[in-house]
Amino acid sequence: MAVDICFFALAACICAYFLFPRKPTNLPPGPTGLPIIGSLLHLGRKPNESLFELSRRYGPIMCLRLGSRTTIVVSTAMAAEEVLQKHDQAFAGRTVVDAVRTPGHVEGSLVWNQQGPKWRELRRICNMEMFASRRLEASRGLREQKMRVLIDHIGAACAEGRPVDIGKCAFTTTLNLVSNSIFSQDVVDLGSESAGEFKSLVWDILEAAGTPNLADYFPALRVVDPQGLRRRITVSFQRLHAFFEEMIDRRLESYAAKGQKKDQDFLDALLQHVTHSAGKLTVNDFKPLLVDMFVAGSDTSSVTVEWAMAELMKHPEKMAVARSEILDAITCKGRTVEESDIPNLPYLQAVVKETLRLHPPVPLLIPHRADEEVEVGGFTIPKHAQVLVNEWGICRDSGSWDDPNAFLPDRFLASDINFKGQHFQFIPFGAGRRICPGLPLAFRMIHLMLASLLYHFSWRLPDGIEPDQLDMGDKFGVTLQKAIPLTLIPSL
Ligand code: HEM
Repeated sequence: MAVDICFFALAACICAYFLFPRKPTNLPPGPTGLPIIGSLLHLGRKPNESLFELSRRYGPIMCLRLGSRTTIVVSTAMAAEEVLQKHDQAFAGRTVVDAVRTPGHVEGSLVWNQQGPKWRELRRICNMEMFASRRLEASRGLREQKMRVLIDHIGAACAEGRPVDIGKCAFTTTLNLVSNSIFSQDVVDLGSESAGEFKSLVWDILEAAGTPNLADYFPALRVVDPQGLRRRITVSFQRLHAFFEEMIDRRLESYAAKGQKKDQDFLDALLQHVTHSAGKLTVNDFKPLLVDMFVAGSDTSSVTVEWAMAELMKHPEKMAVARSEILDAITCKGRTVEESDIPNLPYLQAVVKETLRLHPPVPLLIPHRADEEVEVGGFTIPKHAQVLVNEWGICRDSGSWDDPNAFLPDRFLASDINFKGQHFQFIPFGAGRRICPGLPLAFRMIHLMLASLLYHFSWRLPDGIEPDQLDMGDKFGVTLQKAIPLTLIPSL
């Protein structure tokens, strides 16, 4: 049955293609592509790299047809500035991937909502109640406590001479850092090998959302969800929602016993919004937002820590500089790294920036959408075109960077370039209205985790691997993962 529907949907696409060929004029240049599938085959397994190569031929603003979807790809700092600053509002729409179109999700999600009153309200709540400095300061102690758990966990491996999977440890720790910033409590156990259902649910969503989906290129196929990705994500969303419900119930029980606490953490703040909304909002309205926080916030931050450690292992002289900076900054022995140490670690900050430049966790940002027809660089971008900003390509553009493929943290030491969305040659968190709201939390988590790993341990590669043999290959998905997980042996 599903196969039949698929067949008819595809046949309908083919007929529509030949019967109603739409040829908007003055589109940016790009490859002609094949009938029906357009340039889909050009994308390959690493679309960031293939699109970067194509941009050398067709220019900084390209147009590709991916299936039936018109896609504009932006590949230089100047073009990104046009799209994300000059025409910020016009391009602040989202092209929603089909896998997350589960009932109620897009409407309640900050990541996938179209710009409008609901999206603005969600961003306002997050900026005020989760990412504002006073809120992050209030949950600082909880994150520092999570670092002690991480250090103890690695300490145990160290005592037994066991290797540590850096990405796995960082992912589990990040989930707890995010959850402590929201609920003031853990969601996973670093000590347990399986690390629990929560982690696998978040992981499953990341994996399914990062799988290329035919339904995104041929909307007629959405009805059948040909790869079952939407069905898979729906189940994971439902299980995460059940988990959040438990957290919420427990919090409401504690209010009943001790009275509603004011302004303690993000969950308190959300529940206050529900109380003050006079019945307009329910706790269910916030579940997609909570999903967003874990899915958008966990792997992005943990892959950055893994890549930074990999780069430092590959460049032992830079590892030595980073470690000695931390050891010199924290002279009081016996204490752990604190978030207040970060401003005193300029080299570490440069390492993080250089890592984000070479390995931007979200290499094409999250797909934008033109909400109106716009002229950019002398070309017409049609309304509802998907707009991809190739951040990976921008960060490797020799027009913006000297020796762009080399890991050179020092380049940031004498420069005021930061990732806050003003320097378009370096926008790993995006820029403009859709800039990542989680940046202030990510900044704290990444520096705290990396500094703790470097302060408490020295690290070596497993026997037989020399630094220059360390594999630095990556794997494209929702985030740019290290293809071969980084395993290191700690010592004191
Ligand atoms: C290294 C860490 C991180 C990186 C590199 C990163 C990167 C990004 C990027 C590129 C975008 C899309 C920007 C665009 O559309 O132009 C984004 C959006 C978003 N990020 Fe992050 N992010 C990180 C950490 C976090 C954290 C820790 C959270 C929350 C706990 C978070 C929550 C979000 C949300 C909710 C959005 C959607 C915003 C919207 O569409 O209005 N991110 N992030």
